[in-house]
Amino acid sequence: MPYDPISKPHLSSYKVQPNLPDWDTARKSHSWWDIYKELDWLPGGGLNNAYNAVDRHVVKGFGDKLAMIWAGKNGEEERYTFREFMEHSGKFANALSSLGLKRGDRVFIFLDRLPENYFVSMGTLKAGGVIGPLFSAFGPDPVRDRLQDSGATILITTPDLRKKIAAILPGCPALKHIIIINKNGRSKEPLAGGDLSYEALMAKAPADFKCVPTSQYDYAIMHYTSGTTGKPKGAVHRHQAVIQQYITGKWCLDLRKEDIYWCTADPGWVTGTSYGMMAPWTNGVTQVIYEGGFGANGWYDIIDKYKVTVWYTAPTAVRMLMRAGEAPVKSHKLDTLRFIASVGEPLNPEAVVWGNRMFKQAIHDNWWQTETGAIMCANYASMEVRPGSMGRPIPGVEMGIVDDNFDPLPPGKPGLLVVRPGWPAMFHTYWNRDEMYNSRFKKGWYITGDTAHMDSDGYFWFQGRADDVINTAGHLVGPFEVESALIEHPAVAEAGVIGKPDPIAMEVVKAFVSLKPGFEPTEQLRRELIQFARQKLSAAVAPREIDFLASLPKTRSGKIMRRLLKARELGLPEGDTSTLEDD
Ligand code: PRX
Repeated sequence: MPYDPISKPHLSSYKVQPNLPDWDTARKSHSWWDIYKELDWLPGGGLNNAYNAVDRHVVKGFGDKLAMIWAGKNGEEERYTFREFMEHSGKFANALSSLGLKRGDRVFIFLDRLPENYFVSMGTLKAGGVIGPLFSAFGPDPVRDRLQDSGATILITTPDLRKKIAAILPGCPALKHIIIINKNGRSKEPLAGGDLSYEALMAKAPADFKCVPTSQYDYAIMHYTSGTTGKPKGAVHRHQAVIQQYITGKWCLDLRKEDIYWCTADPGWVTGTSYGMMAPWTNGVTQVIYEGGFGANGWYDIIDKYKVTVWYTAPTAVRMLMRAGEAPVKSHKLDTLRFIASVGEPLNPEAVVWGNRMFKQAIHDNWWQTETGAIMCANYASMEVRPGSMGRPIPGVEMGIVDDNFDPLPPGKPGLLVVRPGWPAMFHTYWNRDEMYNSRFKKGWYITGDTAHMDSDGYFWFQGRADDVINTAGHLVGPFEVESALIEHPAVAEAGVIGKPDPIAMEVVKAFVSLKPGFEPTEQLRRELIQFARQKLSAAVAPREIDFLASLPKTRSGKIMRRLLKARELGLPEGDTSTLEDD
């Protein structure tokens, strides 16, 4: 059984954090229960996050308000009100019910940033299903691992993405239905035998759907996240996470009813669901969805054209904008921007200072993770921003720094970053891996896997990861996943993967490879291996660099010593090598 602090009476044990700014002390009287009251329980009882994001605004008379402005990658534009959003998601919920979807069934969504991605996500949640978002740049291996592990029964995708992963589908026997979305007839691919057409399902489904009475404890969303060892595991969140997503939308992103909000994260990652779906829409805010990729001019065009007021983005993107320089800033009208925030990696102080110069305001860094489900600490709108710091914990959340024995350290001392369990958006388990989940809790703390220190004013400062997980452009990459892909290549005997510091992406994935007898370490093979990993995994996860070594350093028990590979790569002291295998 997963360790379950949520069922303890934490909901009434709200504690005001010391040193919070005035606006926050004004919220002293709030407990999590008070915040629940700002959300709507279902008419017959129960809590559903999608009902709170979509339907309730219609019930409350805001059906004509714009929920979504979609800017397609080919210049298309579509706009949807909350009423239309309710109808589309309701149709899809009806379609799923007619396919026999049961409460708790996993529905995986392998789509680009299309309006339909949001319709099917909300529809699934309203129908009581659990959504599993998949990053559309994934190659076949990550998709196969996630479908197999979760036992997903329904996959929703497009003709082109389906083609990319066709080979792995027979290996996913739990899949009952594949639903294909052919947005505006973009693809000429015929529907594969047995697949269902989204457009056909929607054409015959009624728009009226009475939300399934999920409880706040029902599972809603699972996101796969990487660790040091093993394949990525599915962090599962419950409907109740919505309360923290809603309130941090207000507290940490300063969302207000009149805002035009843009979150640049893809819904394949947790920021793209918690803050690209739940936070803005539960707050009744209009959100811009941009299907295209990064480009300084393209991005500034979005802010300029749609008069974006609140912008939530990531440090790598900010660094790329810095590199693009001042000219594209000058050629756009960006003065509608009222609040900018960033997450996912350390935001360097220079980026905050640059943001201040370009946009006349600070970029507000905040910190959280897939497992936390929502923002945990932040530089708030009302508080002094300390460039380089991730800010202070939100009300009701206690964070700390502990030593290797999980005992508290005083301010200024670096150690493991930990959180007191029991916040509403806390993950409830790793899917089918309760033991691993339980191992993340020590001496009454949740161990985040990060290291940091806290200053005497309660601001937290990120230091690094306590494990081998690589953070490249805000994407966590487990070295094991990349090593496993590489050793499937016939030339590769062993592979060791590390994160190598990079001025833009924070880290890039670097692999060290030893070859099987008969293979030569040529430039051509290096390129072939990179290509091989890109096709299997995705460009975001595959190694950017590969070095050939005659053999890899291993412990006597045969484990590749990534730490040593990294120290050698960076020219750092090699540390304790007493467990190193003799050559
Ligand atoms: O190492 C921390 C880093 O990103 C990790 C969480 O990544 P993920 O689970 O993919 O969740 C992404 C949603 C935020 C953290 O354990 N990280 C996140 N925010 C920051 C950060 N590192 C430094 N500063 C941050 N503000």
